[in-house]
Parts: sequence; structure tokens; C-alpha cells
Amino acid sequence: MKREFLLKDLKDTERLAKALSKFVQPGMAFFLKGDLGAGKTQLTKFLAKYLGEDPKNVSSPTFSIIHEYDTTPPMAHIDLYRVGKGADLWELGIEDYLERGFFFVIEWADYLENNDIFENPFTVTIKILGDKKRLVILDFPNDVAEKFSFKDMED
Ligand SMILES: Nc1ncnc2c1ncn2[C@@H]1O[C@H](COP(=O)(O)OP(=O)(O)O)[C@@H](O)[C@H]1O
Ligand SMILES: [Mg+2]
Repeated sequence: MKREFLLKDLKDTERLAKALSKFVQPGMAFFLKGDLGAGKTQLTKFLAKYLGEDPKNVSSPTFSIIHEYDTTPPMAHIDLYRVGKGADLWELGIEDYLERGFFFVIEWADYLENNDIFENPFTVTIKILGDKKRLVILDFPNDVAEKFSFKDMED
């Protein structure tokens, strides 16, 4: 089920990340989509922050493809930009991370050929509307999507 929200600034993006952090569990995945500069890495930093990592330590894994962080549960941050179309998570060694109880944040998830790993990924598509404004389209499992909100969250 899809829902759209307007993010008026970075603070809204942080609120979104905080709300998303409540759904994190080992073996689940966020599929992040959107153009360069949309805010996929930024959202990941905020997510890591609410799971116990200093967001300053989180950087784009563009060259190394996968970064791992000592969050709770541990986070595997994957960027498929350089892998390109037809990206295969098994080839990238995802099995090891699954066995070790990681959850996954995958930038450029549109490059995944087929997803035979994650039953209910949380897809987050970010569109640039302005300097700080973003449109975010969440495609979540139905039971979650119906109730999901973050605008009313405390900072
Ligand atoms: N509301 C917002 N949400 C996310 N990023 C924003 C927002 N407003 C401005 N930005 C800026 O946009 C840039 C997004 O970059 P980044 O997260 O690296 O994009 P991507 O990973 O999608 O290529 C950052 O410099 C960030 O500070
Ligand atoms: Mg990025």
C-alpha cells in the first residue's frame, strides 16, 4: 500500500527516519529509490542515529558497495549505483549478513533484478521538489501503511 508525504526540510526527514527505526528487525529491508541528491544517504544516516550509531560515521557505500554498522540490530548499508541494472544481492554476499542478523538499507534498489530475499520490503521513494523539500512515497506492508505516521512525532 502506497502513501505520500511532503517533507519540508531535513527535520521532517529525520522524523521519518525515527518512525522507520521502530520497524527495524533482523532480516528486514528498506529499499531506497530516488535520483542522486534526493536524500537516500541522508535518511540512512538518521536511521542509524536512532539505532545507536553516530550519523557522522555513516557515509555512502558507493565504492565499497556495502558498509556495516554496529547499530542495534546491525545495519548493512548497500548502494547499488555502481553495480547497475541486474544487481544480485546473493553475489554481493548478502547471505553472510542475513546469517549474522543484520537489517538492510539498499540505495538504488530499482537496480535489483528480482527480489527473492525480502518478503515485505519497505520501499521509500524520494523525489526532489526544491532545495529542502521532498516528496516521499512509502510503499509498505498494508498493516503498517494504514497506521503509519511521523508528522506528529516529538523531536
Ligand atoms: N528534506 C531533505 N531530506 C534529505 N536530504 C535533504 C533534505 N533537504 C536537503 N537535503 C540535502 O540533500 C542532500 C541529499 O544527499 P544524499 O543523501 O547523499 O542523496 P542520495 O543518497 O539520494 O544521492 C544532502 O546534502 C542533504 O543535506
Ligand atoms: Mg546516496
